[in-house]
Amino acid sequence: MSDPRIIVALDFPIAKQALELTAKLDPRWCRVKVGKELFTAAGPQLVEKLMGKGFDVFLDLKFHDIPNTVANACKAAAGLGVWMMNIHALGGRRMLSAAREAVPIGLSKLIAVTLLTSMERSDLNEIGLNGDPQDVVQRLALLARDCGMDGVVCSALEAPSLRKMMGRDFCLVTPGIRPVDASLNEQKRVSTPRQAIENGADYLVIGRPVTQARDPVSMLWRLNEEIEGTRRNEE
Ligand code: C5P
Repeated sequence: MSDPRIIVALDFPIAKQALELTAKLDPRWCRVKVGKELFTAAGPQLVEKLMGKGFDVFLDLKFHDIPNTVANACKAAAGLGVWMMNIHALGGRRMLSAAREAVPIGLSKLIAVTLLTSMERSDLNEIGLNGDPQDVVQRLALLARDCGMDGVVCSALEAPSLRKMMGRDFCLVTPGIRPVDASLNEQKRVSTPRQAIENGADYLVIGRPVTQARDPVSMLWRLNEEIEGTRRNEE
């Protein structure tokens, strides 16, 4: 598989656990995501180790700060050689544009988080973001594209409207994916891998269904098969 669509979220507290899991996985079948917990504990050395094993790494640190600071953080991430990184669209136009300037197109994929899916309408109202959350997501996605972002993180349920608005070349990355018979954990608005791809997602972030599986390798295989079926139907 030349372009695996599954990104396994390595949500572990220490490097050892991430390395034990990735020792079983094949970089031809998935990419991996390193988030705030693991990166804070294990740092760039772990990212380098994972890349050394052949994995494309999505550095999920959701930068949000003044433009200069975010630009420099993005430059450091691109210098590490990560495949994808993300920043908050709520940082605004100048922050997004500064990040884009720091990471030339084609080096690492630079994507934006619109609204965190954990935010409910009441949370948004409380911080002054009134209106329909869907509208806010669309506005932030348009801003992100306008500032040259390669794509956005969104829920699979938001993917169809964003795909329509943004066209084929805008990258949609969707978390909250669960196989049909899996436990939901605390994720509320979930989709199956097949639904997410059919809705227009390019990459699926999948954590616990793989990391907590009794047999992560077969689970990954099964998820890929489901996606491949969808891809063949698309072609
Ligand atoms: O274990 P699970 O599949 O729920 O993991 C989902 C991953 O996607 C986690 O690493 C989480 O931080 C991330 N994520 C999410 N919802 C978002 C953005 C990121 O669940 N809106």
